[in-house]
Amino acid sequence: MKINENYKNLKESYLFSDIARKVNDYKAKNPDADVIRLGIGDVTLPLCKSAVDAMVKASLEMGKKETFRGYGDEQGYAFLREAIAGYYKKRGVELDLSEIFISDGAKSDLGNMLDLFGADNTALIPDPVYPVYVDTNVMAGRSISFLNANAENAFLPLPDENTRGDIVYICSPNNPTGAVYTRGGLKKWVDWANACDAVILFDAAYEAFIGDDSLPHSIYEIEGARTCAIEVCSLSKTAGFTGTRCGYTVVPETLVRGGRSLRKMWLRRQTTKFNGVPYIVQRGAEAVFTEAGLHEIKENIAYYKENARIIADALSRADVRFSGGVHSPYIWLKCPEGMTSWEYFDFLLKRANVVGTPGAGFGKNGEGYLRLTAFGDRGNVKEAVNRIMKLK
Ligand code: MLT
Repeated sequence: MKINENYKNLKESYLFSDIARKVNDYKAKNPDADVIRLGIGDVTLPLCKSAVDAMVKASLEMGKKETFRGYGDEQGYAFLREAIAGYYKKRGVELDLSEIFISDGAKSDLGNMLDLFGADNTALIPDPVYPVYVDTNVMAGRSISFLNANAENAFLPLPDENTRGDIVYICSPNNPTGAVYTRGGLKKWVDWANACDAVILFDAAYEAFIGDDSLPHSIYEIEGARTCAIEVCSLSKTAGFTGTRCGYTVVPETLVRGGRSLRKMWLRRQTTKFNGVPYIVQRGAEAVFTEAGLHEIKENIAYYKENARIIADALSRADVRFSGGVHSPYIWLKCPEGMTSWEYFDFLLKRANVVGTPGAGFGKNGEGYLRLTAFGDRGNVKEAVNRIMKLK
């Protein structure tokens, strides 16, 4: 038999698995170390009350014959798709329910979406970038062109007349740099994609952190996006669902490539390979989009943004160069004294017992940077900042 040889082109393990292993090794050797983890972007606040109440109610329904449910609707329950359509409508984006697909999170859909595209397409991926975009294309044997995101372009690369690619990834607010595209920036990508028949995979996982109404939350706020873009979003960072698992993907009816509707293809793919998100979780997600739920998650997001502000203020006072931390839970900072990303990661772990994510893990342009997340507990964030500042 033949295995998928493309796997040999992957790094030995996933970035966040590498980091977890290093931290666990350190903890095993230093059992008394009080390690503060500001590495992986995992949330620390509990689910909001509205979501919990809805899931308790749904659990009880599942225990009664009259209200029990088996397999759910194939694209996700209409009640949740209606709630999501209502959320978009507030920003002036009209979506048909048939265009919304409920998923177990952005990561799975970003990977699975590649089923729709030929292996001989080229993926156009910014560097630095969320490693899933790269690894899933490597697994499929697809060729990749990288777009340089760096301090010169404020980590927001734009297309020009030489830009070539079939599937382009855009994450805004960006993981890992925290940079956010303006409407004008996204419009350039939309026009480029429509002109060259490319498809944009727009990762909106961090949209809820945008605090300025002039910045777009969704690519569909940009004219022309319905004929070139798929949007993937998740409740992980919006509502603390990293462990609960629920997200959604929008594939517009008007997105046609090679004469085929990508929405129909995605429906065909999902109905064959995916059986949906649990009813209980979908009821919890629906509650997030109620007035009360939106108010509750806004408070949680404000808490994380205050953490980001605390980190950013300390870095500014210390004259450290960084981006992000305003419309994003991520702070992307330049490692001091010419250290490489992994040198600084080790330095912080050993000297301050603080875990960050080495920028080099997000691509070659990430070398010399480190990412901190603002998803920590407030006390831990303050303690981590104090420890880091003392090292200066
Ligand atoms: C990250 O830290 O980059 C994210 O938590 C990863 C993810 O969302 O899968």
